[in-house]
This record gives sequence, C-alpha cells and structure tokens, in this order.
Amino acid sequence: MANTIINTDAEGYNCWLGYHLLKNNKLKEIYSKWASNIVVSQGVEDIGIALDELKRGFKGILGVDADVSSEPKQSSFIAIGVLGRGNSIDSYVKYNEVVQIGNEGFIIKGTKTVNGETVVVAGTTTKGLLYGIFCLLRLLQTETVIEGILKIENPVNKLRIINHWDNIDGSIERGYAGKSIFFKDNKIIEDLDRIKDYARLLCSVGINSIVINNVNVHKYESMLITDRYLKDVANLAKIFWDYGIKLYLSANFASTIEIGGLATADPLDAEVRNWWKEKADEIYSYIPDFGGFLIKADSEFRPGPFTYGRTHADGANMLAEALEPHGGLVIWRCFVYNCMQDWRDYTTDRARAAYDNFMPLDGLFKENVLLQIKNGPMDFQVREPVSPLFGGLQKTNQLLELQITQEYTGQQKHLCYLVPMWKEILDFDTMAKGKGTSVKKIITGSVFNNKLGGMAAVVNIGNDLNWTGHQMAQSNTYGYARLCWDPDLSAEQITDEWIKMTYSNNEKVVSTIKEMLLGSWRTYENYTSPLGIGWMVNPNHHYGPNVDGYEYDKWGTYHRADHKGIGVDRTVRKGTGYAGQYHKGVAEIYEDLEKCPEELLLFFHHVPYDYRLKSGETIIQYIYNTHFKGVEEVEELINKWKSLKGLVGEKIFQHVLERLEVQLEHSKEWRDVINTYFYRKTGIPDELGRKIY
Ligand code: GCU
Repeated sequence: MANTIINTDAEGYNCWLGYHLLKNNKLKEIYSKWASNIVVSQGVEDIGIALDELKRGFKGILGVDADVSSEPKQSSFIAIGVLGRGNSIDSYVKYNEVVQIGNEGFIIKGTKTVNGETVVVAGTTTKGLLYGIFCLLRLLQTETVIEGILKIENPVNKLRIINHWDNIDGSIERGYAGKSIFFKDNKIIEDLDRIKDYARLLCSVGINSIVINNVNVHKYESMLITDRYLKDVANLAKIFWDYGIKLYLSANFASTIEIGGLATADPLDAEVRNWWKEKADEIYSYIPDFGGFLIKADSEFRPGPFTYGRTHADGANMLAEALEPHGGLVIWRCFVYNCMQDWRDYTTDRARAAYDNFMPLDGLFKENVLLQIKNGPMDFQVREPVSPLFGGLQKTNQLLELQITQEYTGQQKHLCYLVPMWKEILDFDTMAKGKGTSVKKIITGSVFNNKLGGMAAVVNIGNDLNWTGHQMAQSNTYGYARLCWDPDLSAEQITDEWIKMTYSNNEKVVSTIKEMLLGSWRTYENYTSPLGIGWMVNPNHHYGPNVDGYEYDKWGTYHRADHKGIGVDRTVRKGTGYAGQYHKGVAEIYEDLEKCPEELLLFFHHVPYDYRLKSGETIIQYIYNTHFKGVEEVEELINKWKSLKGLVGEKIFQHVLERLEVQLEHSKEWRDVINTYFYRKTGIPDELGRKIY
C-alpha cells in the first residue's frame, strides 16, 4: 500500500497527507526557494524519519526534490534538527526560545535575510522535530505565509490516545470501516506497510499513544500478553515508536485465571500480584517502551475486583505496582454501571453510576494510574451532559474518553462531524474551583496538580481503503487529534485545515464543506433524538430509530414517555438526584426546569408535551419541527455537495454523494418513526399539518 500512493489517493487513502501540488504559483515559488535546500547539521539517524517526511512533503506540495546538505548551499534554505546536541542547528535558535520548547514541542522560524529567506524547524527531541516538520507541511498545505513566522508549540495534553476496539479475529466492535488493520484470523497481520502509513497519519496530528485491542478482552486477546503474540506485538510497537507513539494493550483483569493458571484474580492475593509483576517484566523484555494497560473491569460482564469484594483502587493499584518499575501506566475505565437494571425501578439511575462508584476512591489511586471517563454519564449519545466526575475527582489523574467511531451518531453512513460537540465538552465549566474550571483545563492536570492527564478516543479506523468508511469521517479522526494537541483551537480552524489538506484550497470547496461539516451534528440530532433524551435506537447494533428499543430493557436507558409527558427526572428535589452530583453552580442550573439548557431538558426533567420552550414551541411541536427540519437539512447537504462536482476528486465525489443519499433515506425513516410514535402516543396533531403517519 505504501508504494501505491497515487492510485489510492483518489479514494482518500492518504487522508490529510495527500500533499496535492499547490495551485497558488506565487506561494509555491516563494516556498520552493528555501525548500530546495534542506540543511541537516547532524547525523541522519539523529533526526529519525523527520527528514524523509519533509522531503516527501516538499515533493508532493511543491514538486521540489530538495537537496540535502550539511551546510547551506544557497542563500535561501531550511535548517532542521534536534537542539542541544552540539550541532549548528543550535545557532539558529535563541536561548529564550529554546527554554520554551518542551520534550514534545518545536519551533518554526522564518527569517528574511539580505539575500533570501531561512526557515528553521527544530525540537529538543526527535519526536518534537517530527511534529514540527508535520506542522510546517500543514502550513504549506494551507498556504500560510512562512516569512517572519515564529511559532513555538507544545502539546497541551500529555497523553493523546487512540483506542481501537479491534478483536483479534479481525472484527471491530462498533467498527464501520471494514475489518481491523492489525488483526486477522486470531493473528497479527503480516503486511505491516499499512500500519506504517497509519502511524504516520497519527503522528502527523500529534497522537502519542495507541491501544490496539478492544476493551472487551476475549479469549485470544487475553493471550496478547503471552509469548504466543508478544513478538508480533513488539513489531507493531516498533513501527509506532518510530513515529513517537507508545503502544498499549487492553488486558483482561482475570488474566491470572484465563492465562495464568491461578484460581483467583483477587488483587490483594500475593500470588496474583506476583504473577502480574512477572508478566510485566516479560512484556517489557519484548517491548522496552510498552505504554501499559487499558482496563475495563466490572463493566458489562467483564471481570473485575468486585468479584472479590475489592475496590477499583485495589484492582488498578495492583496492576500499577507491576508496571511501575518499567514506567508503565494503568488506564482504568470508569464505565461501570448496573447493566441488569429493572426498567420498573425509578430509583436506580445509570447516569449516577460512574460518579457513585469512583468518587469515594478519589485520592486512593497510585501515581501511574489514570481514570478514563466517558464524556457523558451514559454512553456516547448524540447529546449528553458532561460527566460530573470531571471537577468531582480532584486527587486522581484523569483522561477524557470520546468516541470518534459513530456508534450512536450515524455509523459513518451519516455525515456527523463531532468536533463542535467535543468543543462544547472541553469548554464545559465544571465550576469545581469557581467559574472557569473547564474540562479542558482539568484533564491537563493543571487545575488540581495531577501528574498525568489527557484525552482518549475510540477510533473510527478500519481496513476500508479510505480508513473510515465514509471518507468525510476522516475529519473526525483529524479533529480529535488536533483538539488533543490544543483544545483551544476553534472548530472553524480545525475544519478549515482539514478541508484544505484533504481536498484543496479552492474557496468554494472550503466554504461549502465547512458549512456542511459544522452543521452536521445538529442536523443529526434534529432528526434523531431530541432534547438530550438519547437512546431511541434499535437494540444491539444501535442503528436506526426505535423509540422503545431500550425502554423495557435491563440497560438503564429510559425515556419514560407516556401519553402525557416525556423525560427522566434527575433532579434532587423529586428525581434520581443525579443533578446533585455537579458542583453547586452547575447543579442549580440543571435542577431548575427554567434554567436547564433546553438541549438537555429531557435528560434532567420529565415534562408534559404541552410544556413551552423559550421559542414558544411546545415539546411535541418541537419534536415534529426538528424532525422535519433535520431531513430538510440533509437535502441541503446533498445540494451543497452537488455544487462541488468537478472541484473535488470524482471518486470521492461519487462516494460521498452515495452516502449522503443513504443518509437522506434513513433520516426520513427516523423522522417518520419518531413523529408517528409521538403523534400516536399523544394524539396531538402537527400545527403545520404535515404528513405524520
Ligand atoms: C458501549 C458499546 C459497547 C462497548 C462499551 C464500552 O456500551 O455499545 O460496544 O463495549 O460501550 O465502552 O465498554
């Protein structure tokens, strides 16, 4: 695959690294002057693959075959290197600049000289340099003026993680883009070229950690940490390591039983503890830079410490102790709830579960443990409030878990660009330390002096030629990574970059696709599930409308609709009390029907259908209106896309058009099923007399 770039690009294989020749000749000429001479004052092994990437980029974007030399050969040139190793690259960077560059950071400096222009890209590590190179290439792809630029960047989040839910038989849990790129038939794939291309893609946007297997660790996946697989896992780890990415594995909490031949997995049992220590030693003998374990325990039938009457801190710390001597981390998921609930029970509330389970443990975890917390209290719905664990936990390292794969947001058949949602989550003010304690600050660790933190997301990647099934879903992968790097980037900027790098700098292309992307989450929400109620999907596969799909089930996911009203009362005053898990300033808002943000109204309150929203619409009329509107917006998406015919590659044009047409069909299905359900339940007609069945 790595050698067939040109053919596969037409299908979207190269994603945002397609490096299309710049159409802006003036800029191309300016860039080419300095890009034609790359000055490397240190051994090539010292700068890793950064040089190759730079050359490849220059060739693609500018058509330039750069001349590489140890001294400048002409008055305009680009110098690259790792600082502080006694090479001439040091002379281009001032002391007060060097001190600002962290171990993953870089500097890009463009200086006009008497006879030309010099550009410097440097990091204090090979990885930092690599990030700097990819950043420079992005600046060229997006036609940014380099002359006079002084850019020093460090990633805001320490951990920038991708989670794969890949199974070793090649299937992917909640995967909508083909099969696994890592596994097939209970083996690790032999052709590793594609993995290398993937590592490049991730590195180019600053991802530094990857978990390659599903959090649900079954029989064979449990063996990934045995000699049956470790050699092959080590090969994968090496590929990622070259691109600055640490490999992690999801592990089975009951490994001592499943693969260790012990009778227990009790975290306080001496034999168990010892088994894990020896296991860690063995893993690190194969993979010296192994990242650590991701653990889903006591969740949806996975084993965990509860079986032995132990806490999740006991469980996590036991593993942390084993990994500690090697510098490894334990990433412990907070997705722990009762999945055997009785729908008749109004007192148990799944939304409360993560907080109820983990708050009492705050401060009890070892330093190399991080808690990975889903963005919302339920499960990646199209709209949820932010989990109260953010800002609740103060003495524990935290990771925000997002879902890039579109399990509940259209399964990559629908266009649903999630960056605007993620921005809202990151910007959400928990009020934990008064106003301004946003989630994005908390997860860096800076608010409560936590040593580690960052973001993780379940990825949407599979072995489809375009990686993500829907080619435009690449924008979610890109956007997630960019937000990990800098959560303050605006959705507009990220979107702009992605479009320019993926398709072109053509103004119409940029503005049209930007509109399509930025509005698509809201559109999806409009024709699916209103006002934060969530769920109304078909059980198991989670695609398509089914209002009562989860209503009389054991999963704790209810809308409580009857003929008079809808919504879950989660107030402290008369509901499940979930609203009280937030800090006062936030809790008061959610508690109060008048103040509660309307997009979450039905998440927090049960209201009659004739309750009036601020717009003056009743709840029932709002449901009808948004469902009709959502479908109209999909029609609009199609018109917009059609207006780009000839301006984006034909294959991609046709492919996206086909997906949009499917989206239109399915959005009509949503509209009609939901509207009909509520019309039949309430008997209240649409004020505008539109067709409801
Ligand atoms: C959801 C999803 C499961 C997944 C689980 C998790 O419930 O549907 O497939 O295993 O989340 O996050 O662990």
